[in-house]
Amino acid sequence: MAHHELDPATLIPRVLSRYSPVVVDRAEGIYIWDTAGERWTDFTSGIAVTNTGHCHPRVVAAIREQAGKIIHGQANIVVHEPMLRLAQLITETLPPSLNQVFFSNSGAEAVEGAVKLAKAATGRPAVISFRGAFHGRTHLAMALTSSRVKVRGHYEPLVPSIYRAPYPNLSRNPYHLPPEEAERAYFAELEALFETEVMPDDVAAIIIEPMLGEGGYVVAPTWYMQNLRRLCDEHGILLIVDEIQTGVGRSGTMWAFEQFGIVPDIITVAKGIASGLPLSAVVASRDLMDRWAPGAHGGTYGGNAVACAAGVATFEVMRDEDLPGNAARIGQFLMAQLREMQQEFPVIGEVRGMGLMIGVEFVTPDGQPNGAAAQEVIRRAQERRTLLISAGPSDQVIRVIPPLIVTQQQAEEFLDVFAESVKGVS
Ligand SMILES: Cc1ncc(COP(=O)(O)O)c(C=O)c1O
Repeated sequence: MAHHELDPATLIPRVLSRYSPVVVDRAEGIYIWDTAGERWTDFTSGIAVTNTGHCHPRVVAAIREQAGKIIHGQANIVVHEPMLRLAQLITETLPPSLNQVFFSNSGAEAVEGAVKLAKAATGRPAVISFRGAFHGRTHLAMALTSSRVKVRGHYEPLVPSIYRAPYPNLSRNPYHLPPEEAERAYFAELEALFETEVMPDDVAAIIIEPMLGEGGYVVAPTWYMQNLRRLCDEHGILLIVDEIQTGVGRSGTMWAFEQFGIVPDIITVAKGIASGLPLSAVVASRDLMDRWAPGAHGGTYGGNAVACAAGVATFEVMRDEDLPGNAARIGQFLMAQLREMQQEFPVIGEVRGMGLMIGVEFVTPDGQPNGAAAQEVIRRAQERRTLLISAGPSDQVIRVIPPLIVTQQQAEEFLDVFAESVKGVS
């Protein structure tokens, strides 16, 4: 078939909406090349996935080598070394209580697994999630999600016994209180669920993103996270921290929860875990995992050998190249520079984030979310061959999420492109 006949509009359903017209040929580091040979700077990381950069040589070598040994060694039939080594590497980065790993294929699947584990281990039926959260698109994960209505609308009935508290968003503070009082007001709303809607001893788990991802790049306050931990302990509720977007170095530490001084009962991991091969994980204590009966959960592909080999190389690169440290350093630089840009361009309402997970929120002159401005900036950045994506209920937040290998010079080049793209947008 001639190349020009490969038309995405004909072949790919429109449910897969796309930011750019790029038909990609190959990629390396922070750059991708389209089929016309044009080079693009990728500040999306394929939605926070290619943390080691596109096609990191060690990841590519590990995939090649493993593909020639065994591709699929089904986990109920055999265990393979890449899975064991990856489980070891992951748990080495975590507190001692997070010491067993269940592998599956996608973030949504990890969320399903984590909630199923919590229900099985506690014998309780209910779950609490947060307004604005995104946990995935399978039926349970979607029911936990409320980042925007199109993710869940027209799919009812949804999984029942899910209760929702407001995400502690101090940027959009509906109480009009100083931050310290506002986070207490948010927490009171969570606690009120136990007085009005659900008995705490019916709740298996509370699931939270330490920083909202799809919901608009909002960092949870430390006080809130620590009190969430305390509340869970008080009522025997398991705390699930969804590290799917924040994890694997993105936040400037290996795991975002480290920065809040808490230890979750369960974490979900995906995206950055294997540099782009489909892999995800549920991590918890052996004691908790032992309460999950053999056969109570599973899947054909979970912990695929090639994906795990890519995961092993990914975690070795994270460690050997100190990518969380680079994310912290470059992230701090970018955040400071973007905040300076905010002074110059009033259309930028706020710059916030952790490490190389930065959100730039666009606003109207009266401070309301301005999705149109954010999309115009993304379009103009594309004219300069730079790829960006947005988040938030009205797509008003531009995400600055380059691969974690990004250099100071590349960050500076990006800032020039970004400033040029924002200039004149209102
Ligand atoms: C925090 C969080 N949880 C879960 C998911 C779902 O992951 P996946 O798209 O791999 O199913 C995502 C994806 O964006 C996410 O950001």
